[in-house]
Amino acid sequence: MLAILSVLFLYLYSPVCGVFQKLYCSMSDSCECDFKPNIRDLEWDLYKNVYGQHLAQEIVSEEVARFLQNKSPERPLVLSFHGSSGTGKTLVSSMLGNHLYGSAMSSPYIHQFIPTLHFPFPDRVKEYREELKNWVQGNLTECARSVFFFDEMEKMPPGLIDVLEPFLGPSHVVFRTNYRKAIYVFIGTTGYKVINKMALESRQAGRDREDIKLADLQAAIAQVVYNSTTSGFFQSRVILQKLITRFVPFLPLSRRHVERCVHSQLCQRGSCGRSDVVEAVGGDMLYTPVQGHYFSTTGCKAVPAKINLFL
Ligand SMILES: Nc1ncnc2c1ncn2[C@@H]1O[C@H](COP(=O)(O)OP(=O)(O)OP(=O)(O)O)[C@@H](O)[C@H]1O
Ligand SMILES: [Mg+2]
Repeated sequence: MLAILSVLFLYLYSPVCGVFQKLYCSMSDSCECDFKPNIRDLEWDLYKNVYGQHLAQEIVSEEVARFLQNKSPERPLVLSFHGSSGTGKTLVSSMLGNHLYGSAMSSPYIHQFIPTLHFPFPDRVKEYREELKNWVQGNLTECARSVFFFDEMEKMPPGLIDVLEPFLGPSHVVFRTNYRKAIYVFIGTTGYKVINKMALESRQAGRDREDIKLADLQAAIAQVVYNSTTSGFFQSRVILQKLITRFVPFLPLSRRHVERCVHSQLCQRGSCGRSDVVEAVGGDMLYTPVQGHYFSTTGCKAVPAKINLFL
């Protein structure tokens, strides 16, 4: 019975067949049942709650929408986030996860890897490669819509991520496993120098932040991660084979962005009206370069600690 309903679910997946879907999902724990992507909510969340990151907002919305509209994508969606600390990389990755699955980031189909926790010993790369490959393959067999986040890529032992090469490209659809529907997000600070340099030049030339165009940054970031021993992609075939769909740059945050972070966190604590704290925290952050004091050295990362100090 379940098999018949599965076939109906797979082939007749449309609003008309909602009734079959409901019936199927009431009996099955298929990940398709929990997969409820809401692009509009994702766009709104990015637009409303991420400050000063027009490139990340645009690319993530655009690429995720394009990928999900395609019922049989030719390759998985592979995004790589880059930028200095506290600029919103982990925040945006959580937003993405939250709007893909009904059970948000606690979904069993969303997998997060943190090198210091999962791959702490660089001399065990061989073992880790095997484990990671089996984990990814096993989970894709369970759920083609699996999402994999790799945070703190700068601490990823070199050579480990290359084991994913066959999954990231337009590989064949193996029985019960469709590698092309998965989403991979790599997150790291590598490349922040080239991103911050461009932001600084733009600012010094009096141009708008929004005038910074992505095209100039894509190739530069690819080159830096390929050449850096601490990017997780050092001399990686993943870069050579151009398996990253898009590099997503996160720009350094200015004082006005930091103050928006302070305001938003004060509101969450029920102290929306404390503009004195907004001003005090904004003024207490460190900004670079010495001449101009344009960008916060820690983005919004130190905001909660500073609020505690001034509230
Ligand atoms: N652009 C932003 N807009 C709104 N909030 C932000 C932004 N950047 C950072 N924050 C807030 O600051 C804190 C740190 O952000 P996050 O963890 O996303 O930084 P990160 O870029 O991942 O830094 P790291 O490289 O150190 O991991 C979070 O509470 C987040 O909500
Ligand atoms: Mg982070």
